[in-house]
Amino acid sequence: MSRLTARAESVTRRLDALLPLVEGPRGRVVEAMRYSALSGGKRLRPFLVVESAQLFGLSEAAALDTAAAVEMIHCYSLIHDDLPAMDDSDLRRGHPTVHVKFDDATAILAGDGLLTEAFAVLAGSGGHPDPAVRCELVGGLAAASGAAGMVGGQMIDLSPIRDQLDLAGITTLQELKTGALIVFSCQAGAILAQAEPQARQALRDYATSLGLAFQIVDDLLDSESTPEALGKPTGQDMAAGKATFVGQLGIEGAREMASGLVAQACDSLDVFGDRADILRKTATFVLERTR
Ligand code: IPE
Ligand code: IPE
Ligand code: MG
Ligand code: MG
Ligand code: MG
Repeated sequence: MSRLTARAESVTRRLDALLPLVEGPRGRVVEAMRYSALSGGKRLRPFLVVESAQLFGLSEAAALDTAAAVEMIHCYSLIHDDLPAMDDSDLRRGHPTVHVKFDDATAILAGDGLLTEAFAVLAGSGGHPDPAVRCELVGGLAAASGAAGMVGGQMIDLSPIRDQLDLAGITTLQELKTGALIVFSCQAGAILAQAEPQARQALRDYATSLGLAFQIVDDLLDSESTPEALGKPTGQDMAAGKATFVGQLGIEGAREMASGLVAQACDSLDVFGDRADILRKTATFVLERTR
């Protein structure tokens, strides 16, 4: 999707400006933060922020800081996810992971730095001119990222009971681990535009289905792709005994579930008519992506 590539460039430029290099011994952590945040990636979450904002007539510029803040949280989650204490991955976006390139302590701090900076960005006037809206963004992103969202999902993902989870348990795990931040990304556009409850709910339904489909495809790629094609290690979920839809339903079953969810995601956008075509295309992209 060329639109995704163009938006990704804007997000990367904004992240570059928001994370200036510093001199002296403190510089190492900023270097590691930049190494992670400026190292490519699909930039799907910031894309969803900008496109959901555009649904309500907002410009890219009006949504760009919020988009960059969400990508900072995502990058922090990847740095920590790759640490030896978690997935112990040495490759990310086709490059050595942050703890391999730097060291474990620097990687932990770089994650902490990005996590914290994300909220500084949202609290700044670039987030939204109205402080009450900035507050809503901060609260929403915190809830999606913390123990009731991404962090909680990562905890279940690593817990000893993960191989006993049934389909409902895996759904909850994936909704928290990956879905929560994707749902927030779409809600962010509605928050920035102070949209009506019906529109917010439609976006929430879209993003809930999309988030689940996104993680199912991630798990399919983990079992079917190669590190060269994917830019990160493969075969990790099975080796670690992770609970995934692929493990429960098999490759074909998981693929069918993902495509059913994408169809459901698209249906949720009916209230927006043609205006939501980009978000519908995005759902198809999520299903067909190869990295
Ligand atoms: C990978 O996310 C981690 C998951 C939540 C599955 P992405 O596939 O969006 O990673 P990048 O940002 O494109 O590298
Ligand atoms: C991680 O899920 C989701 C995060 C919140 C970072 P994975 O462990 O499956 O992500 P990848 O496959 O390493 O990108
Ligand atoms: Mg993981
Ligand atoms: Mg991982
Ligand atoms: Mg994975």
